[in-house]
Order: sequence, then structure tokens, then C-alpha cells
Amino acid sequence: MRLADSFRSERFGAVRIHELQRVIELDSGSSEALRAVESQMVVVVPCMNETRSVIEGVLSGIPHDCLIVLVSNSDRQPVDRYEIEAQTVEQFCRLAGRSAITVHQRDPGVAAAVKAAGMPELIDDDGLVRAGKGEAMLLGMALAAMTGRQYIGYVDADNYVPGSVHEYCKAYAAGLAQADSPYAMVRISWHSKPKLRDGRLFFSRKGRSSQITNEWLNRFLAEYSGFGTEVIATGNAGEHAMTLALGLKLRIAGGFAVEPYEYMDLFEQFGGVLESTDPDVMASSVPVLQIETRNPHFHDNKGEEHVRGMRMQALNVLYHSPVTLPAVRQSILDFLIEQGALATGQEPPRERTYPPVGTLDLDLLYDALDAEALSFRQPDGLALTGRPPAPPIDRASIPRRVA
Ligand code: GDD
Repeated sequence: MRLADSFRSERFGAVRIHELQRVIELDSGSSEALRAVESQMVVVVPCMNETRSVIEGVLSGIPHDCLIVLVSNSDRQPVDRYEIEAQTVEQFCRLAGRSAITVHQRDPGVAAAVKAAGMPELIDDDGLVRAGKGEAMLLGMALAAMTGRQYIGYVDADNYVPGSVHEYCKAYAAGLAQADSPYAMVRISWHSKPKLRDGRLFFSRKGRSSQITNEWLNRFLAEYSGFGTEVIATGNAGEHAMTLALGLKLRIAGGFAVEPYEYMDLFEQFGGVLESTDPDVMASSVPVLQIETRNPHFHDNKGEEHVRGMRMQALNVLYHSPVTLPAVRQSILDFLIEQGALATGQEPPRERTYPPVGTLDLDLLYDALDAEALSFRQPDGLALTGRPPAPPIDRASIPRRVA
């Protein structure tokens, strides 16, 4: 893959946000650097009640050397949809000769493991891991960390175009290979979303939620610098990747606040406004590469209410951040009241946030998952076809906690 050069970036303390880079060609003829990253990358697929054939397509798009981790919150009754998903992943592993990890977020054994590993905040009143996409991503990151691989990427399970999943993963690898820091992030801005309008296909350029989230994140930056900016184009990017060295230090927000909060947490921890507890990151900088991909993003449409909820969660996060300047906070409030999302005198609710995955005791997490979580599977396509086994997690070499 060849990316356009990125000449311009904006700094916020140690965070260096690069202007959107286009994909020049999907295949640039040399793949060694990309494969080196892919063989160290875990791709987490959060999945809740998606269609089997769509999930199968998504799996087929994830490059061979990446390790797949599927974290499900699908219904288990009346039909056990997780069982169908786990079988789909296992069959894929057998056919493709690769391995994967699958787990169900609401498995009581997973909750026990999370508690044992030291993150009771993730458990709800029913004693289970909370539902939510951010929560699934957190679990996925913990599993990724146990594998000892260096990178993590996320792709949604409801993507109808396997070719776009493939392109996202290639863009992760290309961006991470280019980034000149151990603490790097790559975020995707898809080129267009096809929609039917008056019987014609229309390729819309902007997402209904992203438009608002990006505008406010840019206002956040502009209030500090005194210069208007449009540098942030990926505030809601569900498709994104990072080095695990960075990921393990980030606090993670629940639900759909997760992606905008990644930006805010970078600003809070490494923006230089609040005192950083991490001199190492401050010294090496945190590049955020934003890549505009070529394939259209064609996924399940979950409706206007869903999009409104997502937008609100982004603004809630921005409003409550300790680094958001008062003028921006007031404008967010005015905007939400004007939109009818809040009544006068009301405050936006606070989104739930969790400690960094790096604070978890991964040895304890693994042992409890292994002993108690019935949904925790590690299909090994090599062993399934009679070749030497290659389980994704080697108990003996699980990395120590980092924070
Ligand atoms: N495990 C798990 N648990 N998966 C979930 C959950 C959950 O509680 N909620 C949603 N998912 C899965 C869905 O099955 C899908 O694969 C993916 O997470 C995204 O959820 P959607 O509900 O389809 O979100 P969306 O497509 O409207 O929004 C996506 O794009 C936005 C940017 O345009 C998401 O990725 C957002 O996070 C992103 O901001």
C-alpha cells in the first residue's frame, strides 16, 4: 500500500495529529514492511447480533498474519448466536490454517476473571461485564496483550464489504510501519458511504455522527491555539489501530464514547496541560496518523436514534474533560440545549471510563478465563489440520503488567 505523504501536523503537547493522508495505491508492489507489522498485529472484532455471512466476509478480509480476536455480546437465547459465531470462526481457522480467540462479554467466567485481574469497575449490578462496544474493545485489548504481539487494530463485524476490511487492515500496517514512535495510532476516515436516494446510489462523504464530533474536537484545539483547524477527521473512527505500548496506557470509555475519548485521553495524559505521569511518552511523542481509504464503507444502518446517541456520547466526553476550556464547554452546552438534547439548567451526563488495560494482572486474567470462562476459545487452525499447534496465547510468556 502506498500512502500520500503527510506534510502537515498539529501539535497538542506530545500528541502530533497528522493531516488526513490518502491511499495512493492499494498495492504498492512491496509488502515486507506491511507483513512485519501484520505478523505482530491483533485485530479485534466487536460483534453483537450480526449476520453470519457478514461476519464470515469480515474474517476473510483480515490479513493472514493478523491474529483475530472476536468479542461478542450476541444473544444466547432463544438461539445461542455466540455458538454460531464461535463455530464460524473455528471453521474459518481450519480452512485458512490460522488461529484466533473468541469470547463472550457476558460470560460469568469472564466477569470473574476481570475481577480477579483487578478491574471491578467493568462489572455491572448483575455481576457481569457491562454491555457496550468500548467494554468489548477493552476486553479485546486485554486478550491482545496476553499474546505478546505489539499492535492492535479494530474492525466492526457489520461490514458488508470484505475488501474494505482488508484495506483498513493494510492501512493500519502501512501507518504503523511509517510512524516514528513506539506510541502511535492510526485512524481511518472512509472515503464514502453509499446510500440510496431517489432510486440512485449516492456516495455520501460524511458520517452523521462524525461530522459533529470532528467539528467539536477541532474547536477544542482551536480554543487553545487561537487558529481555526479542520485537522481532526477521525473523531468517531470505529476502525483504528495503535501500538499496544500506547493502548495499554490509555483509559477506555464505555459504549460509543470510546473513540472520541481516545483523543481526549491523549490530550489529558500527553497534552502537556495536565501533568503527565509518563515522561517516556512525553519525550517520544504520540503520532496520530489519519488515513482516508478507497473502498466505500457499507455497513448495517442502525437508525437515527442510534446515531443521535453516539453523537451525544462524544459531546459528553468533551464537555467533561478537565482539559476542555470553559468557552468550548459553554458552547457545547448551548448547542445541546438548542438541539433539544438537554433542558436549560441540565448538564450532559458523564460517560463511564475505565483504567488502562495495562493495570490488569494478565496472568490472573488468563488463569481465571482458562478455568472459568466457558465461552473462551482459542481455535487453532494448524492443530485442527494435524500440523504443530500454535495457540495464540502462550501461558508461559504472558507479559507482565505495564502500569
Ligand atoms: N461485543 C460487543 N458488545 N459488540 C458490540 C456492542 C457490544 O455491546 N455494541 C456494538 N457492537 C458491535 C456491533 O456488532 C458492530 O460490529 C460494531 O460493534 C459497531 O457497532 P454498531 O452498532 O454497528 O455501530 P455503528 O456502525 O453505528 O458505528 C460504528 O461506526 C462509528 C463511526 O462511524 C462504530 O464503530 C462506532 O464506534 C463508530 O464511532
